[in-house]
Amino acid sequence: MCVCPFDALDFRILELSLSTTYLLVVLTMKPDIELANQIKGFLEEEEGMRLFEIASKACKLGPCLEIGSYCGKSAVFLGAACKQNNSILFSIDHHGGSEEQQPGEEYFDPDLMDPQTGRVDTFRAFRITIEKAELENTVVPLVCGSKTAVQSWATPLGLVFIDGGHAYETVYSDYKMWVDHIINGGYLLIHDIFEHPEDGGQAPFQVYQIALNSGLFRELPMTRTLGVLQRV
Ligand SMILES: C[S@@+](CC[C@H](N)C(=O)[O-])C[C@H]1O[C@@H](n2cnc3c(N)ncnc32)[C@H](O)[C@@H]1O
Repeated sequence: MCVCPFDALDFRILELSLSTTYLLVVLTMKPDIELANQIKGFLEEEEGMRLFEIASKACKLGPCLEIGSYCGKSAVFLGAACKQNNSILFSIDHHGGSEEQQPGEEYFDPDLMDPQTGRVDTFRAFRITIEKAELENTVVPLVCGSKTAVQSWATPLGLVFIDGGHAYETVYSDYKMWVDHIINGGYLLIHDIFEHPEDGGQAPFQVYQIALNSGLFRELPMTRTLGVLQRV
């Protein structure tokens, strides 16, 4: 006869305590802010936390997608929300840098030059970030232009975050190409919304206005320069 040291009640208590522990871990899971603060990028912590908040709701509707991975700062926040809900973040970037990140331009960073090719390459830094944030099973990097990624796209998305090139044509085409992939109730986020030209480039603000005037979205409160729209 097999002598089992536990009876059914012991197993029930064990099961309950394991699921409570799991629940507590899930509820207390937060983005790694300390790590995010060490990563090169252009996102304020408050904006990152808003990305996390919105993505936590969005990823219950469908996977999330960002255009403009750079070194992975925004992916740490969006990815943490996706991980906690067993969802996925697609992160698109050709990793060659935007116009303003090229040598001689305002946001050029010599640390991100690949000495072998003589070109900007942020993919290595991005991969290191994803590994440090333990998001390898959550973040799917798409190393290509946004236009290439969208060509055969068929997956409805809970969230699209536009933070790629900041020239008007680029922001506008990112909006036009991806808007129809956002599920009803899903979110469109656009970074670097400056209402006044003296504060910054106008392209993201202009495209934000186009999205708003399309009647497809309702406006939610902005966090610093992060515009938040919900598809209705
Ligand atoms: C402002 S940075 C993104 C910042 C990032 N979201 C963060 O939180 O640090 C813009 C990025 O967009 C990428 N990019 C620019 N145009 C693009 C395009 N058409 N398709 C894909 N990536 C693009 C650049 O390579 C650059 O890394």
